[in-house]
Amino acid sequence: MERRIINTELTPEDEKVESGLRPQYLKDYIGQERLKSTLKVYIDAAKSRGDSLDHVLFYGPPGLGKTTLSGIIANEMGVNMKVTSGPAIEKPGEMAAILNSLQEGDVLFVDEIHRLNRQVEEVLYPAMEDFAIDIMLGKDSTARSLRLELPHFTLVGATTRAGLLTAPLRDRFGVVQKLDFYTTQELKKVILRSAKVLDVAIDDDGAMELARRSRGTPRLANRLLKRVRDFAQVKYDGNITREVADFALDIMDVDRLGLDNNDRAILLTIIQKFSGGPVGLDTLAAALGEDAGTLEDVYEPYLLMNGLINRTPRGRVATENAYRHLGLACPDSGQAG
Ligand code: ADE
Repeated sequence: MERRIINTELTPEDEKVESGLRPQYLKDYIGQERLKSTLKVYIDAAKSRGDSLDHVLFYGPPGLGKTTLSGIIANEMGVNMKVTSGPAIEKPGEMAAILNSLQEGDVLFVDEIHRLNRQVEEVLYPAMEDFAIDIMLGKDSTARSLRLELPHFTLVGATTRAGLLTAPLRDRFGVVQKLDFYTTQELKKVILRSAKVLDVAIDDDGAMELARRSRGTPRLANRLLKRVRDFAQVKYDGNITREVADFALDIMDVDRLGLDNNDRAILLTIIQKFSGGPVGLDTLAAALGEDAGTLEDVYEPYLLMNGLINRTPRGRVATENAYRHLGLACPDSGQAG
């Protein structure tokens, strides 16, 4: 089967468009209602005390708005945000330099924070706890450490893999929030808002169809909106209707549930190569030529949420829903449970 990736990583072009679509304040942010209301309390409380906001960890599948929320925190607090990521910082000194460049109250956003190496992470411990960094001077018997005070800042960490964070790092976040997939109604609102920003004509049914097929993920919804707009312009009269959305999404191999070729390959592999499962994550990943972590963090959450696979102690199992969705006969409903 052809494997074409509609992955959730950003291309530079997507990044440009996406940043233009990002809501800047909580009032414009659609979805994640519980998270928003608790975050608002913490922000209002910190502001009224004249404090920086406590450190925040966001976790959940990619594309749900972790970066956007970090920017919103900075805007709501009226401070600047510096952006970096776990793999981008290789040496403790680089982390120390970033921390040292922050101003009072600033937000430091660290994406993929689970990928920080241990030595870099250790610079963060005193920085988060005491707003200080310890710099080692000299070597061996002459070694001594110098404590450098930092301004109060807010670390916002984002990860798709909360389970991979070390306990000392995780424990230093005062606020830990999970992001959930968006409902179709919420995604529809996101799409209508983005269409307005991009000046794209779309009707209610067109937006609804796009929302249904966007995997509960605003980043994907916005990306599909742009692609469907192209079809609307070239093949139709420029307006996105249900018919246009259906036509374009079918061509892009995005199915009625929002599954792409990768998702379907996962289900088909479990069903055809492993008799419906159970199959261990590593075995499944090897059979797909995919990284086990990517499979677990990027693909599985949506399949699990839709009841297409189950996780059992002995491995992943395709459910009856998966067989039905793919139009296959389910051999043994007990096994596919
Ligand atoms: N664009 C991307 N995510 C969004 C959200 N949650 N609310 C509004 N616009 C968005």
